Amino acid sequence: MPVHPSSPLSATVLALRRAGCVFAEDEARLLHETAASADELSSLVERRAAGLPLEHVLGWADFHGRRFAVDPGVFVPRRRTEFLVARAAALAPRRSVVVDLCCGSGALGAALAAVSDAAELHACDVEPAAVRCARRNIGDLGHVYEGDLFAPLPATLRGRVDVLLANVPYVPTDDVELLPAEARVHEPRVALDGGGDGLDVMRRVAAEAPAWLAPGGSLLVEASERQRDTAVEVLRAAGLSPRVLVSEELYATVLVGTAANSPSEDRPKR
Ligand SMILES: C[S@@+](CC[C@H](N)C(=O)[O-])C[C@H]1O[C@@H](n2cnc3c(N)ncnc32)[C@H](O)[C@@H]1O
Repeated sequence: MPVHPSSPLSATVLALRRAGCVFAEDEARLLHETAASADELSSLVERRAAGLPLEHVLGWADFHGRRFAVDPGVFVPRRRTEFLVARAAALAPRRSVVVDLCCGSGALGAALAAVSDAAELHACDVEPAAVRCARRNIGDLGHVYEGDLFAPLPATLRGRVDVLLANVPYVPTDDVELLPAEARVHEPRVALDGGGDGLDVMRRVAAEAPAWLAPGGSLLVEASERQRDTAVEVLRAAGLSPRVLVSEELYATVLVGTAANSPSEDRPKR
C-alpha cells in the first residue's frame, strides 16, 4: 500500500530515500513497527540513514521463515544461505547430530534444528559477539562454544556428526574492499576475509571434517560460482566425496562433501 505523503511514515521514507535506501518504503514500515517511541524511531532512522545494515538497526534478521537476533558487529545471515539449510534438511537423517561451525548469529543451526529432527545441535564461532548472539538464538536447542573452528567442540563428537554446516568466510582478501559498505564497514573482517583465493578457512575445515563426520555424514559449505571448481578439489583432497548444488533463484552455490559410509569403504578416488 502506498505511503500517504503527509503521514509520519512518509517522512521516514523520504529520509531513507535521501540516504540511498533502495527499499525505503518497506524499511520505513519495519522501523515504525519496531520503534516503541518517537525518540526511538528517530534514533533508528538516523542509524539506518548513516549506513548501518537494516538488520543491525532492527536487531533481527528474517532467515528461513524465522526472526533471529543479530547484534551489531555480527554477520547478517544472507537470504541465499537458506539454500544451504534447505539442502542440509534434506540430507539430515532422523535424530541427527548437527554442528554449525563458524555459526555467526547461529541462525543456520537454529533454522535447521527447527525443521529437522536434530537430536543434538552444537555451534561455535571465534568472535565473542557472535557467540553471545548465537546463544540467544539457539537457546536450549543446543550448545554454543567459543574458539577456533573445531577446537572448542567436545571430543565426544568425533566420528558422530551427521551434518556439518560451515558457512565460512569466503571472500578473497583483495575483494573485501569491493564489498558494499554495509558489509565492509559493519561486519567484522574475520567474518568476510577468506584469504588469497577466499578458500583458506574452507581448506582448514575440510581437512579436519573427516575426523568429526559420522560414516556417510556430510559437510556443507557455500562458495561463489567462481570458486566452485577449486572448492570441489578442496573437498576431494580431504577425502570427501564432493557434489555441487546450485540455486538459480537464490544465486547460491553449495558444496556437499560426504564421508565414506564405513571406515573400510574406499575413499573417493581423484
Ligand atoms: C560468513 S560468516 C557466516 C556466519 C553464519 N554461518 C551465517 O551464515 O550467518 C563467517 C563466520 O565465521 C566466523 N569465523 C571466522 N574464522 C573463524 C575461525 N577460525 N573459527 C571459528 N569461527 C570463525 C566469523 O566470526 C563469522 O561469524
